[in-house]
Amino acid sequence: MKFTEGMLRDDALKGKNILVTGGGTGLGRSMGEYFLSLGANLVITSRKLDVLEETAKEMMAIKGGKVIPVACDVREIAQVEAMWEKAKSELGQIHVVLNNAAGNFISPTERLSTNAFNTVLDIVLKGTSQVTLTAGKDWIAQKQPGNFLNIVTTYAWTGSGYVVPSAAAKAGVLALTRSLAVEWAKYGIRSNAIAPGPFPTEGAWSRLLPGDLVKKFDPARKVPVGRVGEHQELANLAAYLVSDFSAYVNGEVITIDGGEWLKGAGEFNNLDQIPQEMWDMMEASRGKKP
Ligand code: COA
Repeated sequence: MKFTEGMLRDDALKGKNILVTGGGTGLGRSMGEYFLSLGANLVITSRKLDVLEETAKEMMAIKGGKVIPVACDVREIAQVEAMWEKAKSELGQIHVVLNNAAGNFISPTERLSTNAFNTVLDIVLKGTSQVTLTAGKDWIAQKQPGNFLNIVTTYAWTGSGYVVPSAAAKAGVLALTRSLAVEWAKYGIRSNAIAPGPFPTEGAWSRLLPGDLVKKFDPARKVPVGRVGEHQELANLAAYLVSDFSAYVNGEVITIDGGEWLKGAGEFNNLDQIPQEMWDMMEASRGKKP
């Protein structure tokens, strides 16, 4: 058994209709593909209908099932509401929402225009809230259980320079996740989050770390397990959280980062740069033989 293999049994998501925002590319697509192979039907959304249509075609050719592409800018409530109605008209009730759509600019904060800052806040926090409210109000009105899975990041709780609007917005999404997990549990609605560490994707990585930057700041070097994540690892965790196997998991954020953020947090963790010989010398200086 390898971590690059699918983990759940083939029918684990049979009969589930799952909405994946930002589902046309990257991690959203990888998670969606795995949901599909476990028997789910999907609605995938983003602003780019042509990309969504191509993705839907490719996914259905490989995995079967139904993939409905719906263009939606999550910043626009009218588009979110229209997307939700279209999703329901195509698939019937939607059972799971994966809030995955995001935007981010790596930049010194003082260089960001007000509009740039607001753009990230709007996509990440307002977009997630709007999709969540639209789905949640409908589920409550229909007396229908539901399940939210929100993609956040470890800097939602540590904060991080150079991605400040994203950090502020993701912290908000985490608070939304935990708050609604309690408030809406009485309606049979669960809310959980995943905080992924570095998982390479074509789009985000080339935009966030263009050119040689990805070599210079090789994210694998910061990860205690010594590598970046495989998409299937994230898909396995996401599939578990959207499935009924996780029925007792509510209000949780699960980190999947190979220990990356804790390495940055522990006061003495950078002592891993001390070579063995130096530890030997230190031991010897206290009179202990190496
Ligand atoms: N760094 C800093 N500011 C930037 C920027 C960058 N790389 N790219 C755009 N901006 C600024 C623009 O100058 C503009 O501000 P201004 O009006 O003051 O000049 C503001 O941000 C909005 O830019 P615009 O291009 O109009 O935004 P948009 O709404 O068309 O698209 C995104 C914004 C985030 C959706 C788009 O950049 C995108 O698709 N990004 C890819 C998704 C992504 O970031 N994924 C990573 C997920 S972690």
